[in-house]
Amino acid sequence: MSLVRNTFFSTTMALSLLLSDALYIAFAQQAPTGDLNGNWVAQNVNNTEGTVRSTYFNLKYESGKITGTIRTTQFFYTIKESTGGPEGFTLIATMPDGRNERRVQYEGKLVGDELRIGRRTRPDAPITEMIAKRAPAGEGAMPARIDPPARHKVPYNGLAKTPPMGWNSWNKFAGRVDDATVRAIADAMASNGMKEAGYVYVNIDDTWEAGRDAKGEIQTNKKFPDMKALADYVHKKGLKLGIYSSPGLNTCAGYEGSYGHEEQDARTFARWGIDYLKYDWCGARTFYTDEEMPAIYQKMGDALLKTGRPIVYSLCQYGRLDVWKWGPEVGGNLWRTTGDIRDTWDSMTGIGFRQNELAQYAMAGHWNDPDMLEIGNGGMTDTEYKTHLSLWAMLAAPLLAGNDLRQMSPETLAILTNREVIAVDQDKLGKQGSRAWKSGDQEIWTRQLSGGDMAVAFFNRAKDEAKISVKWSEISVPAKRKARDLWLHQNIDVSAPDFSATVAGHGVVLLRVSGK
Ligand code: GLA
Repeated sequence: MSLVRNTFFSTTMALSLLLSDALYIAFAQQAPTGDLNGNWVAQNVNNTEGTVRSTYFNLKYESGKITGTIRTTQFFYTIKESTGGPEGFTLIATMPDGRNERRVQYEGKLVGDELRIGRRTRPDAPITEMIAKRAPAGEGAMPARIDPPARHKVPYNGLAKTPPMGWNSWNKFAGRVDDATVRAIADAMASNGMKEAGYVYVNIDDTWEAGRDAKGEIQTNKKFPDMKALADYVHKKGLKLGIYSSPGLNTCAGYEGSYGHEEQDARTFARWGIDYLKYDWCGARTFYTDEEMPAIYQKMGDALLKTGRPIVYSLCQYGRLDVWKWGPEVGGNLWRTTGDIRDTWDSMTGIGFRQNELAQYAMAGHWNDPDMLEIGNGGMTDTEYKTHLSLWAMLAAPLLAGNDLRQMSPETLAILTNREVIAVDQDKLGKQGSRAWKSGDQEIWTRQLSGGDMAVAFFNRAKDEAKISVKWSEISVPAKRKARDLWLHQNIDVSAPDFSATVAGHGVVLLRVSGK
């Protein structure tokens, strides 16, 4: 018996040695040192959550030219230009992105059988080198494209009758968001007066995702050990939980997207107890043109409805293809109208004051989304943050706080919970405000409210204090009404046919004018 076993062992060992020798020789022949040809992968493991990000270089080196593709997790580029060879080369690769083109530049060289390669973001920027190793042919290749479905109208889900209010993790935490932070944010929101003021959604943005299991079920990474338990926790506080995904293979931050798994993911989200989905185009641009966006968003709109769970549907594709014209048809409750906001006066006002033409597209259940709030993140003054909230309220914009609710100044909390300003935002008529008057850096915006009231905002976009004087008739506000200053919380006299407001630099005077 033992003899048999030994013979068996030695035979298999010899065989496997032979095999590995043969493989080694084949490999060596196929890829002698100095050969750029083949598929290469550089991997970068994020140790906080164990996610692996891979960059693939599928290269062909022929007649002094390098061709092929580069995949950086979510994006697939085609090499368009190259100079040099194994001893040192530069690659320029591009991919279509709607009407634009994305371009990347890599520089590298072969050292032994390793590709030392790095991306140059600007001509003068230093390169962060990564080491790419040989990968099996086909690994990391772009999967087949799934054709968009035929268009039809997705029925309204009955949600977001007023603009959604809550919190989102991205502006403050980006990739650092985790279960403990979300719980603590929910605790804060439920106890600091925000919940009473109307904030209800606690939304996890990108970076919660891991890969998929054998059945294709999306997994959470180490930062979120149990999404269902987290949802239960948030629900017990009387709040709702939101999540994030992409119609692409990967999200903007390079995490797992819903491509080819739309219905399955919608069911998973429903099972976890998710109440809100932000669906971010990002990786989808690899497969689809902008013109195909509506069909792709419709797919998830259908999938969410089919779960039977009320899930607010937030489209995030940066306002491309006039999304406000088709957002409601694909089941969207809100749609981003712009690129990402930053915590600066220029970014916030650049976005906010550009929304004028979109007013007609907002209505109960379907909102323009000029992006999340930056109030309390430190890049603007309290005066500027008051302008931020006032402008978003005039725009009937979703109010998703983007700061650390666990530790904020009393001023920040007071701004975020100004009920009179929130009442303007949440007005049930659902009519978005627009610009009524402008002179240089001073603007007056008006918004029709329910019950015949009107919100009137005197914005001063200049650095220095300014006096804004206007006749009520010039801005179509009927005279002889009652008015209230929504930041001073005082009634004011507007009985005269004209009105003057002294407005701080970068500040606002926001009035609610009422009475017949
Ligand atoms: C895009 C979105 C942001 C955020 C990030 C996450 O940039 O516009 O709001 O969701 O992706 O990666």
